[in-house]
This record gives sequence, structure tokens and C-alpha cells, in this order.
Amino acid sequence: MWIWACRCPIHAAQSSDPRGYLMANHSIIAQGLTYSYGNGSAVSTAVDHVSFEVGEGEIFSYLGPNGAGKSTTVKMLTGQLRPKSGKAMLLGKDIARETNKVQQEIGVAFETTNLYEQMSAVENLKLFADLFGVKADVHALLEKVGLGNRGKERVANFSKGMKQRLMVARALVNNPRILFLDEPTEGLDPVSSESIRSLIREARAGGATVFLTTHDMYEADRLSDRVAFINQGKIVALDTPYKLKQQYGKRLLKVEIENGSGQIEAREITLDHSDTGEQVKHLLESEKVITVHSEEATLEDIFIQITGRGLVG
Ligand SMILES: Nc1ncnc2c1ncn2[C@@H]1O[C@H](COP(=O)(O)OP(=O)(O)OP(=O)(O)O)[C@@H](O)[C@H]1O
Ligand SMILES: [Mg+2]
Repeated sequence: MWIWACRCPIHAAQSSDPRGYLMANHSIIAQGLTYSYGNGSAVSTAVDHVSFEVGEGEIFSYLGPNGAGKSTTVKMLTGQLRPKSGKAMLLGKDIARETNKVQQEIGVAFETTNLYEQMSAVENLKLFADLFGVKADVHALLEKVGLGNRGKERVANFSKGMKQRLMVARALVNNPRILFLDEPTEGLDPVSSESIRSLIREARAGGATVFLTTHDMYEADRLSDRVAFINQGKIVALDTPYKLKQQYGKRLLKVEIENGSGQIEAREITLDHSDTGEQVKHLLESEKVITVHSEEATLEDIFIQITGRGLVG
């Protein structure tokens, strides 16, 4: 378990910019971050010269399949692992050099829960607040993650999803300026997942920058200002979900028509072509159109297009 002693100021809320990624101040700058596990002939590169910048107040999602290098990146960014090469600047400080100072200002929920199982939820949060030297309203935090009435119970009795929500609450104890969440909704039911997503939006509205790892494309799409696709340790695309879809995705009109013999036939018209208007006009004039739906590529489609593999597995 990683804990550190600090005296952390509670940060005043900062104004948030929905176009956070355009803001001049970068909360995170990663330059050529590289990490490999093992040594000698058994060395394997998990993260391979990864570079990106995350703007202040941005929700930045790191999207990739199992083993892509997401957690290894988070561990380097948060000072758990020292990069083999490259560096990460957080809030203007090199995490490898000023680890303690930076850790005072960030909150992290790792993918593996590391809570004190024999203590209650309230005790876990209070302990963390003490370590940070801050006064946190632990009951309000538990309410936020839907554990308001379970605070006195031992964590050992919590379900996986409850522990995960407690991890998120713990990451918020010091009112962090950067919140790192490694697969925060993995294995959670839809209601719990949505409550975590609300917390993420709330943290951002309060001025925090959020670095989120996930292989849930819908989550990344709905939440993120920008998304980085990571595959086999390398960033293969990085942009807003909208621009990624514009660049790689195909927008379609899916049409059902009733043909002369009363059967339903499916037709597709690709949008964004010079003759799309003509095609739609022709269809409406000459066919019996039953339904029309527009469809756009998902981040999963785009990921497959770029890497040849899916986001799951
Ligand atoms: N402690 C370790 N020792 C050796 N290899 C490791 C270790 N941790 C991770 N790896 C390897 O590094 C690569 C990247 O792993 P990482 O945990 O960063 O992936 P991830 O994208 O977080 O995957 P997941 O979606 O499954 O959490 C994988 O090949 C993994 O097997
Ligand atoms: Mg991981």
C-alpha cells in the first residue's frame, strides 16, 4: 500500500473550461515515458515512449485492451514506478524528483483495491485524511459514493463494487488537483458506475483534472474531453472523441424500405459524401421508406480500425 505523510492544502475551486484540453496550463506532461518489466532476456516493454499532455480541468481517458500498458502508465505518473526513460511533469513538478510534494496534490484509485480490510469505511477514510493532514468530511464522501449507511461496517464485508467505490472516495479525501482513476467502474453495476461518473464530472467541475483508464468505450466517449488509444505500450491515436469519429469513423443512414412484394429491405447511405443529399432524395421519392436511423462509428470501431484488435481481451 502506498501512503505518505504530507500537509496538503485544500484547493480552492478553480474555474473549469469545457474545452479544457485547449487551456494553456498542463496538469500532466508525459515525455517519452517508458517502462519494462523483468531483465536480461526476459525483459518486456509495457510502456514504450509515451508522450501526451493533459490540460488543467480536462477529463482525459486512456483507453486500451488488457495488457496495453494503462496501469503501468498510471503507476509512473503517480510515482509508484520510476520510468526507465522519459519523464512526467505533474503540476509543473517532476514526479520522479518531487514525489512527495506531487503526491500531496493528487488522488489515486488503483485498479486493485488496497484498503484496510479490518477497519471500517469511515476509519479507512479518516486514516487517509490524517496522513494527508487534512480535515475531510468523510461522511459526505461516503454519501457521494453511495456508502452513506455502510460507513461503520468492516471493509472485509464489502462487495467488490463497494470496495471500489470506497477507493474512489479515498482518492478524493485530499481534494486532489489531479484525480487518477484506474478502471474505476470495472465490474460495477450500471447504477454504481453512473454514480462514479457523476463524481468524476463533479471533481472536474470543482477544477480537478481527471486521468481515467478504461476499456469501456462508452464511458470514455461520454466522459472525456480527449481520449488516448493505447495498444501494446504505444499511443496509437489521441484526440477528442468527436474528432476521432470524424477522422476515422463512417457516419451512416440506415434505412428500411418496403419493396414491391411487401418485404422489408435494409439500405445504407454513407453520410458526408458529396452525393449523400441526392441519394437521400432519390430514396424518399422512389421507395416506400419505413424507418431511418443515423449511426456513427463507436470508439471501439475506430480502435479496431487502427489496431486490428478490439478493446476487450
Ligand atoms: N508486475 C509486473 N511484472 C511483470 N509484468 C508486468 C507487471 N505488471 C504488468 N506487467 C505486464 O506489462 C504489460 C502492461 O500491463 P498493464 O497492467 O500496464 O496493462 P493494462 O493496460 O493496465 O491492462 P488491464 O486492462 O488488464 O488492467 C502486460 O504485458 C503485463 O503483463
Ligand atoms: Mg490495468
